[in-house]
Amino acid sequence: MKKNIDPVPIKDIFHKFIIEDLDIKGKKVFIRVDFNVPLDDNLQIPDDTRIRSALPTINYAIDEGAKVILSSHLGRPKGKVDPRFSLAPVAKRLQRLLNKKVIFAPDCIGSQVEGLVSKMNAGDVLLLENLRYHPEEEKNGEEFARALANLADFYVNDAFGAAHRAHASIVGIPKFLTSAAGFLLKKEIEYLKGAIDNPVKPFVAILGGAKVSGKIGVLENISDRVDKVIVGGGIAYTFIKAMGYEVGNSLVEDDMIETAQKIRKKLKSVGIKFYLPVDCVIAQSTEPGTVKKIVPTLEIPKEWKALDIGPASARLFSEVIEDAKTILWNGPMGVFEIDEFSRGTFAIARSVADAYALTIVGGGDTDLAVHRAGVSDAITFISTGGGASLQLLEGKELPGIAALTNKEVT
Ligand code: 3PG
Repeated sequence: MKKNIDPVPIKDIFHKFIIEDLDIKGKKVFIRVDFNVPLDDNLQIPDDTRIRSALPTINYAIDEGAKVILSSHLGRPKGKVDPRFSLAPVAKRLQRLLNKKVIFAPDCIGSQVEGLVSKMNAGDVLLLENLRYHPEEEKNGEEFARALANLADFYVNDAFGAAHRAHASIVGIPKFLTSAAGFLLKKEIEYLKGAIDNPVKPFVAILGGAKVSGKIGVLENISDRVDKVIVGGGIAYTFIKAMGYEVGNSLVEDDMIETAQKIRKKLKSVGIKFYLPVDCVIAQSTEPGTVKKIVPTLEIPKEWKALDIGPASARLFSEVIEDAKTILWNGPMGVFEIDEFSRGTFAIARSVADAYALTIVGGGDTDLAVHRAGVSDAITFISTGGGASLQLLEGKELPGIAALTNKEVT
């Protein structure tokens, strides 16, 4: 069951237009969505979360009688037409989810697209082909942005996952059109900024994953608000090495050792509790079926590497999590994609889900972990953004939000 603890209302922190502020009846609305979904070898979509997440905005625009022009990137086709990155499978899935015809355009600009737009009626939905077939998208080419803007009367950004990219469809179009946020973008800001900037205390952050460099900015940004920090996953071993211990072959970012030491000391000096794994699951390789052992973290033999937190760490971390009122989790506790090393991450997923707290899970791997653990329904909010959510948690302004039209603040 989802927890009923509300974050700070959006109006306190979001001074940009949202789609409800626009009079879109009968108007052409260009909605930038993030339909960058995974595609398997048969071009099927194994996970359509990102498409479903944009439905509230799309349905609102349809219900208001707008002509809905949807646009997205998919993958990284490097500025060239490549059928492996076509949005055609997305058009099909969207049609099924909306239970309504979705017209699919063969490109995102040009006379054919303009022709399709000119024939649209109120409530029609048109999906444009991959923006990144054009190199000008990533280069934020002005003419390209203008051509996209010329298709519509208003611009709406609901592509939270791409809001950290200063691309033509994110920051270029708003120069030409009145621009607003969609409901997904608004919700992401509400949780990742509203709830984290003013957390209900105690506030516990759980950080994991492979790259310390990707998490230092988050730690620095929340260091004046967080009460307890749990560090697991690959990044823990850079911190443990920084304390002068051997960690065998475990993942270590040598160039981050000094930074890790500094941030840990800084957190300690302001009274923030900092928890590292006390035991871990080790192996010599990640091959399925490989021999594994559980050892105290300070006793990892040479040639062995830590690939998951051990049972004692899972218990310790779960006790810390139990008392929290706000929990932010970004990064798994180990290589959970492999069964042998998944228990620690899944144990933490269950503890986060069981806590009577506002629980926020950062996108990417952690999102997959809570789904695989079967607890996604019990998490208050799961972000659809990877890089974008990290940048927001680092306290940086996202270009895609900065570009939107400011609301008059009274
Ligand atoms: C993502 O999947 O994080 C977004 O869609 C952005 O994609 P990108 O990293 O290729 O810009």
